[in-house]
Amino acid sequence: MREAEKQLSGVRRVVCVGSGKGGVGKSLVSATAALLLSQRSRRVGLLDLDFYGPSAHLILGAWDLMPTEDRGVVPPEIHGVRLMSIAPYIGEGPSALRGSDATHAMLELLAITRWGELDLLLVDMPPGTGDEILDVVKFIPAAEWLVVSTPSKLSIQTVRRLLLLLRETGSKIMGAIENMAEGEACVEEFCRAEGVQFLGSVPRDPKVERAIGRPELLLRTEFARRLEAIVRKLK
Ligand SMILES: Nc1ncnc2c1ncn2[C@@H]1O[C@H](COP(=O)(O)OP(=O)(O)O)[C@@H](O)[C@H]1O
Ligand SMILES: [Mg+2]
Repeated sequence: MREAEKQLSGVRRVVCVGSGKGGVGKSLVSATAALLLSQRSRRVGLLDLDFYGPSAHLILGAWDLMPTEDRGVVPPEIHGVRLMSIAPYIGEGPSALRGSDATHAMLELLAITRWGELDLLLVDMPPGTGDEILDVVKFIPAAEWLVVSTPSKLSIQTVRRLLLLLRETGSKIMGAIENMAEGEACVEEFCRAEGVQFLGSVPRDPKVERAIGRPELLLRTEFARRLEAIVRKLK
């Protein structure tokens, strides 16, 4: 754990992108936000902690980028984003990690990764409102949380649970983003009721799918354009 702290000592801010639920756009939001920040000359890292469905390397088109080994592991850089994921280590097979193995893998990844100096490290969180959150809170106590929700009641309900847990652990909650917005301001209303800052909404954008794995194309989508307005708030 001390090792993890040391490796993060040059990182000014750690922002975890969480939702509690899968399929709401955490990976897409965190990867696109990393690209946008890098374009704004921020030194930015992206850590994919979804060991069951790592996606960041797919979104950034970094399938074959291997970290280099040098007194630990140096993340490869893609479009200016330093990316760390277990994907290059596990290949295409299923990753049948038990809970305690996932905890070990997370700690190991944090202990070996040499991030260097970063303005911001975005963490793409796995779904779940249990161990995966508690582990990150424990290993990265300074982490701030950016919550993603779709307008669906199912997503909002899970986010409510996540917020309870984060509050219980004394974590800092930056705010919430509504993804795949449909016009009704459900997430904004929810944020008001919960006393959480609403950071803005991004629409469902059918052009996103073609842009997976093609960062230049992804940056030109309406999705990215709208996310940019939110990312500007992440100094
Ligand atoms: N705003 C959006 N418009 C269109 N497709 C989206 C949007 N947000 C997410 N998606 C798509 O929905 C799926 C789930 O997104 P993903 O980022 O993998 O969610 P999570 O990481 O929360 O499980 C992906 O196929 C992704 O490309
Ligand atoms: Mg994901």
